[in-house]
Amino acid sequence: MSSVSSKPGLDPELIAIACDHAGHGLKTVVLKLLQELQVPVTDLGCASATESVHYPLYGKKVVDALLARPQSRGILICGTGLGMSIVANRFSGIRAALCHDIYTAILSRRHNDSNLLVLGGRIIGPDLGKEIVRAWLQTPFEGGRHQERLNLIEQLAREARPPVETT
Ligand code: RB5
Repeated sequence: MSSVSSKPGLDPELIAIACDHAGHGLKTVVLKLLQELQVPVTDLGCASATESVHYPLYGKKVVDALLARPQSRGILICGTGLGMSIVANRFSGIRAALCHDIYTAILSRRHNDSNLLVLGGRIIGPDLGKEIVRAWLQTPFEGGRHQERLNLIEQLAREARPPVETT
């Protein structure tokens, strides 16, 4: 049994994971992998592949977990990964990366410091899904000019917000 908890770039504190019905099968596979890797994980639902649920509600659960513990990371899985990434990236401080290949997963860590991995349970198979998760867990952020660009994203988002109206 291997552990990734001492690898650079991974805060072993917590992985929060959630899915909708379309992501449930792949979530089961990912949960097993995280257990094998001894990565602490909190499963925030859903609990079934047969009962249709609304992915935004499950995406927001992981967003809330990450915002409460900024050093932790999250994994979201829906059918394509699109819905979950759209939801998650609405929230400041969330850098959700939809990855269907290992290279993107690695670069999402090195350059984007992705704190949320999104997978499409109807797009990729279990073996590729596991390799993507492994790569994402083990790859550190490079910082430097990439941190400047992340700061810029947050700054631009702040500037784009309409001023709060006072009465
Ligand atoms: C559910 O049918 C599906 O729409 C959802 O899992 C996801 O792919 C949405 O983007």
